[in-house]
Amino acid sequence: MYSSNWKDYLARPVASRRDCYLSITYDYIDDYLYRIAAPRDRLLEKMEEYADTNNVPIIGPLVGRFLYNLAKTNQSKKVLEIGTAIGYSGIWLARAIAPQKGNLTTIDMNPERIKIARKNIAEAGLDKAVRIIEGSALDILPTLKDEYDLIFLDSDKDVYPDAFKLSIPKLRKGGLFVADNALWGGEVAKGGKDKDTQSMIKFNKLVFESSALSSVIVPLRDGVLVSVKE
Ligand code: DHB
Ligand code: MG
Repeated sequence: MYSSNWKDYLARPVASRRDCYLSITYDYIDDYLYRIAAPRDRLLEKMEEYADTNNVPIIGPLVGRFLYNLAKTNQSKKVLEIGTAIGYSGIWLARAIAPQKGNLTTIDMNPERIKIARKNIAEAGLDKAVRIIEGSALDILPTLKDEYDLIFLDSDKDVYPDAFKLSIPKLRKGGLFVADNALWGGEVAKGGKDKDTQSMIKFNKLVFESSALSSVIVPLRDGVLVSVKE
């Protein structure tokens, strides 16, 4: 079970936390990071609770804030997200860019999740700033004509390598490519043999071998990869 609800997470005995929350840092450090994080509005809190109850792996408030800050500092106007889920990361991103008349395009193949995301995004008052496209990222990406200031990848892990290859041509010079779960619970460092771990190992290798990118994995939550297109 993936707890994205920080209050619930902190209420659990320390020993049980690592099992229920993808985390690669020390528990006491995580506790501290969640404790000092600024409170969210009721909508984000409700979404965190929903994600926790329904096992939807959302990025949570720490990575949410990180994305928000990245989009702000790079003055993003056009953002692309691969993996909408319930719209939690999309709301963080759209809130960063909507005041600058920016807009978010987000892709997901799960129609039920999209329905929930649409409702959440409308409740956030961001429906004009967000376009949701239903379909497989690998089919949709080649059809997109725009150039993006920031691309955030958080889809099924088996599509990461191909989604990466299709994304980079859509990123402007100086743009940011950001990917969630780059450390995959630490499995990438251990050389895990399962399909998703192998895909994440391949993905990280592709990213770091790319001379067009300046890349780093920030060990926040499950590892957030941030690349700047040179
Ligand atoms: C999983 C997916 C995610 O994007 C995430 O942040 C955590 C877990 C998963 O599929 O297990
Ligand atoms: Mg994720």
